[in-house]
Amino acid sequence: MERRSFLDLLGKGFSLGFLLKLMPTGMLEFVRAQSSATSFQRALLVDKAGNPFRLSTLKPHEPFVFAYPYAATPNILVNVDAELPPVDVRMPDGKSYRWPGGVGPRKSVVAYTSICPHGYSYAAPNLGAVGYYKPEGNRGPRMVCCAHLSSFDISRGGEVKGGPAPHALAAVTLEYDAAKDETYAVGFLGNPQFEEFFRAQQQSLRDLFRTTARAREEVTRATVIPYAEHTRVPTTCPVIG
Ligand code: FES
Repeated sequence: MERRSFLDLLGKGFSLGFLLKLMPTGMLEFVRAQSSATSFQRALLVDKAGNPFRLSTLKPHEPFVFAYPYAATPNILVNVDAELPPVDVRMPDGKSYRWPGGVGPRKSVVAYTSICPHGYSYAAPNLGAVGYYKPEGNRGPRMVCCAHLSSFDISRGGEVKGGPAPHALAAVTLEYDAAKDETYAVGFLGNPQFEEFFRAQQQSLRDLFRTTARAREEVTRATVIPYAEHTRVPTTCPVIG
């Protein structure tokens, strides 16, 4: 499959996860390099009772958390209360990738890794260094890492608005089935830096999960819970940018 036909199919509504599954490994690496897309095991988002998590019921500006693709890698999901169009996100190497915008009934729901690309602080259960900040005045919705005040515009593919982060937050690729009001996580756009994260947080993850294998367990059904329930010690800090 040539790159053009791949992009054409994406434009025609075929999901990124579906197309990546069709490709031989060599082509998969090519696509990853071209689009900064990484596919992982497809996981249905579910609530605590195990039922599909309904984006139609998501109230604006109430952040939720789900672990994906590993048990130890939490992402933040939020309805920002505005339709979000696709955006090209530029990386430090000059390449860019297309973030497809919001999903859900109003195309207003987004999900990003909570792992900060500066120093791999994150929304840990025992310390919420990264959190959601709703719009205020002229400023749009942000995710902010309080470790060194990196700020990310989650209405524009997670691009950096302030602080030392070297590039955008990686976005979770979500597939939304409007007829069933069901959502799947299928991968990431950008650079989620999971290997760097596991190295940097090795000790604290052992404290939380006891073994590295448990921390790296792949998620097949992603349970979505309120941010306040997941993160017992949230932090707040000024939003710069
Ligand atoms: S670790 Fe997030 S800003 Fe430094």
